[in-house]
Amino acid sequence: MNSIFLDTLHKKDTVRPPVWFMRQAGRVLPNYNALKEKYTFWQMMQDPELAAKVTLLPVFDLGVDAAILFSDILVIPHALGMGLEFTDNGPVFDTPIKNMANPLSKLNPQPEKLEYIYKVIDQIMLTRPANIPLIGFCGAPLTVLSFMIQGLGSRSDFKDAVQFFFTHKTETKKLIAAVNELTLVYVEEQIKHGVEVFQLFETNSGLISNELYEELFMPSVKMIASKVRESNIPFIFFPKGFGTGIMSITPDICDFVSIDWQTPLELARKFVHQDVGLQGNLDPRFVFSPQNEIEIELQKYLQFGKKNQKWVFNFGHGFLPESPYENACFITQWVKNKQWR
Ligand code: CP3
Repeated sequence: MNSIFLDTLHKKDTVRPPVWFMRQAGRVLPNYNALKEKYTFWQMMQDPELAAKVTLLPVFDLGVDAAILFSDILVIPHALGMGLEFTDNGPVFDTPIKNMANPLSKLNPQPEKLEYIYKVIDQIMLTRPANIPLIGFCGAPLTVLSFMIQGLGSRSDFKDAVQFFFTHKTETKKLIAAVNELTLVYVEEQIKHGVEVFQLFETNSGLISNELYEELFMPSVKMIASKVRESNIPFIFFPKGFGTGIMSITPDICDFVSIDWQTPLELARKFVHQDVGLQGNLDPRFVFSPQNEIEIELQKYLQFGKKNQKWVFNFGHGFLPESPYENACFITQWVKNKQWR
């Protein structure tokens, strides 16, 4: 495939950095919002034609260099038997683990509940433009488990989940193993069906200390990484809020690391192992700024990109609700049209 994104991930020199955005397949797009009038999020995710269409919308509407599967990280708890609903305020579980008597006995892996997602991937493979790779993804163990325990939507501070890790450490380890076992099957199937890149979303890595993360969660990140890289698929890790933890990110963990908006990119380049590429990290709230102010910020990225080939332009977290579409187009086109070398 002739793709600037794959070339960069394979550490080849390119005329400009590739560009895509976390949460690009969603509410920033007027065409997505029009579909949302007719269908719920779950309906769109589960219908292969609709999900494939939504996956490709940002490619056509924004002009990004890669598509990311339209799905969610919480499909894993759902396939472990947890009742899940996506409300207007975010995802809600019927019975979060914090309210279960013996959670391990209630988790029941049903890998067949993920099969519709592989049909979505098949449909994307049939309909995508020839130079657009597909990014597969899943949630990393801490983020997935903290949602499972806490059960709340996006505005939670995951207080009970973190407390659970400290009060029930042995059970936490077993829960991580249960999530990881199904996740590994899911990763393997996504790759069999054709995803060319894999990103692991660890949005909640800042909930606990780097030391506890290393002990409890890093072993499963490494297992997921090996599963992905067995097939020579580039692996991107996004540990949001990891702070100085990025200093321990080495090529045995990932090919690229996605840097959050809290961390200056130049500092990240100094701290992260030199053979690991970087992705990110424009603050997604810059899309709310006037275009002349966005442009001043983008100039800093131009300077960075001139010095760094192993870099993918992205945000430091996903698009927020109500992000103005025109500014998302402006940023994408700016990156694509600048003289970078
Ligand atoms: O465009 C893409 O990035 C691809 C699809 C994608 C979604 N969720 C679709 C989605 C991806 C990669 C995710 C990952 C995800 N989901 C994460 C990790 C990354 C991050 O953004 O932090 C997390 C923590 C979730 C869990 C989740 N799903 C939350 C907290 C919410 C509610 C908040 C919100 O943004 O709406 C969701 C719902 C969700 N997932 C939507 C979309 C498009 C919104 C559904 C809608 O349109 O109503």
